[in-house]
Amino acid sequence: MNRKILFVMTLAAAVSVASAGPIEDQIRWRQSAYSFIAWNSGKIKKQVVDQPESYDKQQVIAAANAIAAVANSGLGALYGPGTDQGIGWRPTQLKSEFFQQPEEARRLAVAFNTAANELARVAQEGNVTSIKAQLGKLNETCKSCHNSFRRRD
Ligand code: HEC
Repeated sequence: MNRKILFVMTLAAAVSVASAGPIEDQIRWRQSAYSFIAWNSGKIKKQVVDQPESYDKQQVIAAANAIAAVANSGLGALYGPGTDQGIGWRPTQLKSEFFQQPEEARRLAVAFNTAANELARVAQEGNVTSIKAQLGKLNETCKSCHNSFRRRD
């Protein structure tokens, strides 16, 4: 990669970490982001898996767009150094391994973003079978990241 681009990207990452504020704020926003995502994926699950008769195309589109928007919002900025210790809404569950395995963390984050954006695309098409399949793929990405980097307490 071009050195100048790499420098600007590094700078942008550093700035975004700095602008994400104190450790407690980063943890709180992170926990809020995932809770909001879970609320929205729960709505989709209800409408395409549990009670398909309740399927409402516009609601599923809105929920999928909300998940994609949060996924695309730059959540990486909320994983600043030291945020594996501390209290947001409650003590953080981020494992220290997150900082020791940056490549794996990046891979899982990219997989999650890709799946979230694809879910938003599929929701627009309105085919319940495809939405259900893509929701399953998205949930796999939640699980892999949690298995690697979220502490169970
Ligand atoms: C890139 C890694 C990653 C992905 C992908 C991910 N999570 Fe998480 N999740 C975390 C981490 C880390 C925490 C712990 C955050 C903390 O306590 O600081 C967490 C916490 C949570 C929480 C608890 C929030 C709280 O109130 O403390 C919920 C709910 C959750 N995730 C749901 C999901 C769902 C649903 C998905 C997929 C649609 C998902 N997550 C995808 C890493 C991830």
